[in-house]
Amino acid sequence: MSKLKIEGKHILSGEIQISGAKNSAVALLPAAVLAKKKSIIYNVPEISDIKYLIDIMKLLNCEVEHKDGTLYIDSSNLKNKPIPEELSVQMRASYYFMGALLAKFGKVEISFPGGCNIGARPIDIHIKGFEQLGATVDIVKNRYTITADKLKGAKIFFDFPSVGATINIMMAAVGAEGTTIIENAAMEPEIVNVASFLINMGVKIRGAGTKRIEIDGCKDLDNGVCEVFPDRIESGTYIIIGALLGDNLKIKGIIKEHIEALLIKLKEIGVDYEIDNDVMTISKCENLKAVNLKTLVFPGFPTDLQQPLVTLLTQAKGKSLVEETLYENRFKNTYDLNRMGAITNILTMNKLEVKGPKNLKGTHVIATDLRGGASLLIAGLIAAGETEIDNCDVILRGYGNLVEKLSNVGAKLEITE
Ligand code: EPZ
Repeated sequence: MSKLKIEGKHILSGEIQISGAKNSAVALLPAAVLAKKKSIIYNVPEISDIKYLIDIMKLLNCEVEHKDGTLYIDSSNLKNKPIPEELSVQMRASYYFMGALLAKFGKVEISFPGGCNIGARPIDIHIKGFEQLGATVDIVKNRYTITADKLKGAKIFFDFPSVGATINIMMAAVGAEGTTIIENAAMEPEIVNVASFLINMGVKIRGAGTKRIEIDGCKDLDNGVCEVFPDRIESGTYIIIGALLGDNLKIKGIIKEHIEALLIKLKEIGVDYEIDNDVMTISKCENLKAVNLKTLVFPGFPTDLQQPLVTLLTQAKGKSLVEETLYENRFKNTYDLNRMGAITNILTMNKLEVKGPKNLKGTHVIATDLRGGASLLIAGLIAAGETEIDNCDVILRGYGNLVEKLSNVGAKLEITE
């Protein structure tokens, strides 16, 4: 198990370039099976989830070349095969092969997906959507066999605007006869990124990024080309680090509209920054103020930045109240934050109190999930002394070239086995 060792309290200055978005890229790869023969995906992040997805693509007889951040995919000899559990449990996004292969072949066999243990994370909305398109879903233990002689366009109303279900049903609907309408769809930028790829292949999609998406089924798709949007969660994480340790630190490649909720919250906390086009310049804020925070679906405050922001709130003056509305188990990182000297109290499954400011002291901690790991990384960067984060592979699942990016701006950290 890899460890991340961090020597805290180094001021950071220079430039950090944001990579392509994990939560877009992990959907774009499975979507590539819908292309006629070939796809090119630019700005692909260097993260472990991509490697696992490429393994699945190769299992399905695709040729995949990954060069300088670009993926060249040849799916002309694509074969539909059952996806083994050992591959699908590696990450949540393996479930995107459900929608893609169902549209392409009318059949898919795969296990329940993996992903961060931050709650029950059921996929009932996905399954209901596939059934409304006319598919049959057989579940044996946690193995799913989804089949359809013919998918038929339908009007589907989501009980909750799920990101994964919106993308999965959008892809399945490509293989359906007629038009599918998704009501109460998720509006996250990743949805728009995937829709732009499908549109580039020739699919007619209207309303991606809004609550109502219409997809016209399409048999003859073209080859596909797309670029992965910059990662708004990686952007947010480095911006939070900049508010704690920056000296005119530049975060390059941000899309302001994708992180608006964070920017507004930072202003409330007292953080100043400048944005010029896609570059933010940020410095350490001396007077952080406590605030109340509630996570919501996009364009509300993203749940994936809740844990990183909690680390910042341990340095803010006063009592902050954090309400996590998407997941029932996303405060595990606070145990280790408290061991580093923070004052946080879990009031209920989704309410947390944070009191500050408190100086943190480096110690031995463990990353339990991706963003929880990011919150401990930030704590290690501001703590006195050395912090050792066990199980740091979960952090590398979502942050490409982490050590390189932070070392280049003055941080002292390394990965050891
Ligand atoms: C995506 O997960 C992201 N993962 C998550 O990021 C992110 O937290 C989440 O969207 C919300 O923004 C990827 O894109 C790979 P959801 P997803 O379906 O698609 C419930 C990270 O750190 N729900 O929008 O799984 C579910 O339990 C990860 O990068 C159902 O009840 O999120 C959750 O409480 C963590 N039934 C809520 O909806 C369903 O069928 C949001 O889930 C589907 C979801």
